[in-house]
Amino acid sequence: MTAVALDVAERIALAARRQGVERAEGIDDLLARARRWGADLEAGVRAASTDDVDTLLDRLADIVVEGWVARPDPLRARDRDRLLTPDWFQRPDALGYVAYADRFAGTLEGVTSHVEYLRELGTTYLHLMPLLRPRPAPNDGGYAVADYREVRADLGTMGDLEKLASVLHDNGIALTVDLVLNHVAKEHAWAEAACSGDARHRDYFYVFPDRTVPDEYERTLPEVFPDFAPGNFTWDDRLAGWVWTTFNDYQWDLNWSNPDVVCEFADLTLYLANRGVDCLRLDAIAFIWKRMGTSCQNEPEVHALTRTLRAVARIAAPSLVFKAEAIVGPEDVVHYLGVGEYAGNVSDLAYHNSLMVQIWSALATRDVRLLVRALDRFPPKPTTTAWATYLRCHDDIGWAVDDADAAAVGWDGPAHRRFLSDWYAGRAPGTFAVGAEFQVNEATGDSRISGSAASLAGVEQALLADNGALLDTAVRRLFCAYAMVYGFGGIPLLYMGDELALRNDSSFLDEPDHVDDNRWMHRPRMPWDLAARRSSPATLEGRVYGLVKHLGDVRRSLPSLHAAVESSVRETSNRAVLAVVRSHAAGDLVQVYNASPDWQRCDTFALGPLLGRPVVDRLSGEAPEIEGNQLVLPPYAALWLTGR
Ligand code: GLC
Repeated sequence: MTAVALDVAERIALAARRQGVERAEGIDDLLARARRWGADLEAGVRAASTDDVDTLLDRLADIVVEGWVARPDPLRARDRDRLLTPDWFQRPDALGYVAYADRFAGTLEGVTSHVEYLRELGTTYLHLMPLLRPRPAPNDGGYAVADYREVRADLGTMGDLEKLASVLHDNGIALTVDLVLNHVAKEHAWAEAACSGDARHRDYFYVFPDRTVPDEYERTLPEVFPDFAPGNFTWDDRLAGWVWTTFNDYQWDLNWSNPDVVCEFADLTLYLANRGVDCLRLDAIAFIWKRMGTSCQNEPEVHALTRTLRAVARIAAPSLVFKAEAIVGPEDVVHYLGVGEYAGNVSDLAYHNSLMVQIWSALATRDVRLLVRALDRFPPKPTTTAWATYLRCHDDIGWAVDDADAAAVGWDGPAHRRFLSDWYAGRAPGTFAVGAEFQVNEATGDSRISGSAASLAGVEQALLADNGALLDTAVRRLFCAYAMVYGFGGIPLLYMGDELALRNDSSFLDEPDHVDDNRWMHRPRMPWDLAARRSSPATLEGRVYGLVKHLGDVRRSLPSLHAAVESSVRETSNRAVLAVVRSHAAGDLVQVYNASPDWQRCDTFALGPLLGRPVVDRLSGEAPEIEGNQLVLPPYAALWLTGR
């Protein structure tokens, strides 16, 4: 008898029979989804597996069925709703908030009691920073996970996480949690097993008996933390070998070419989905596949593996979405949303790092040409996906400026990156920023920047100088930057405290576990006393809060901001002025930004499709000032123009 190859839906049907659930309620829906997404699951496996494909497919079929069986009823109801609104994270009302649970509210239960605050801001998506049990400090802000199935003890329990998810859902807020894919803490059970000589678990990692192979790899590997974790391999006595550690020496890279690792993460994906998590932030995803002679980032197998995990989720827990954390260049990052055969079947969301970098670059130089050049290079993303746009996050800002882009506007790449670090470290003449350098790499001259949005935008300097006019300019600058973030299309992420213009926090210097990592200067604790000022426009907090909230409110009213449509960034007749055009069937939206502290004019040609029509700025409710064929723009103007 010749074996007939089974497709994934058939394997899942067989797995259901093996598990005695072939007649369970909802099985037809499960199998329908398996027919829809099974080919994706299989294609991913075939493109990234070195092992016996059939065995791996059957193991994944079992995991899918187990995960589906364990899925609580309220989440199955959520699956049905989300299947009817698959674009929930693309809609103009989608708005993200990002916080450390402890720094925001002490515990997960504390977060539950601050849901009203999130609602008030219009939040529909909450990313709680790493909350699964990490190794004891230092643990890279929680990104060294010792157990993915337990919550950090001081934050609460898995039960608390489930309760929080359910409260958030009742309030129209989706929950995002980190799934660290590239590495585990060296205290994770897999690593412990490897250390005690278990060969199966040793294969979960990359371990080399001597430096021969590591040295070969090192030739083309960059260093992520050149300052506090140089090199990419760490000697471990218990393993009697060099283990791959891209990040810190206590974060051991996983071997994703091992099917056991793929199965573990398929299972974890569904485990977390079944706790009520709506979105998994795939941490450090770019690094998960290693190939000799490369930087070991963005290898094609990364996308194949994502395709498999995405299909597993779509079949068993279809309301779950993926967000890729790949802080890589334009040509590489679009692959995380899907290019070619991967279009629409990998991550749903990805961070738009370039937009963030280019906004800060434009503000420092008062020149938007580099921004236009860099963003223009982005190929369109699949219409079912969205960028996560942001001005600040918990990480440093790396000046990901391409040398060719810089050259195209007449600048030298390395010199411009140096300038940006000097500017935002608060060293360059005329700078408005207060920030600090992070991970200065003596060998490459590369350096990155830490600092809060408000401090980098000039608020701290103005307050130190006790200068009202400077403060006014800084607030306008912040508003202009946020308008670009909220107006770009995709889900804007507001990083905790930025809505209140919180400045750099130096208290990390007194914390032994944080003192070496100045990213903690922009990871403050929520000062609820200051937050209470948000309703008083006379205070700085109230003013900035009001502006940010206003952006969210206006955004929600503009169908043209649905992420399915691309933004087109354009130069104008004035290099300080940016135009962003969004052509949408529901009506065109043209945004105009003045990236400088001076009054500017530009040709009304900037109005693009709105040229010659009566227009209104939806942010102010007024008509823009036009003199002859010139748009007249106040310092840091941000206009969102539509037809009247
Ligand atoms: C991501 C996180 C960063 C962390 C790294 C290693 O880039 O955002 O904070 O250091 O992954 O897990």
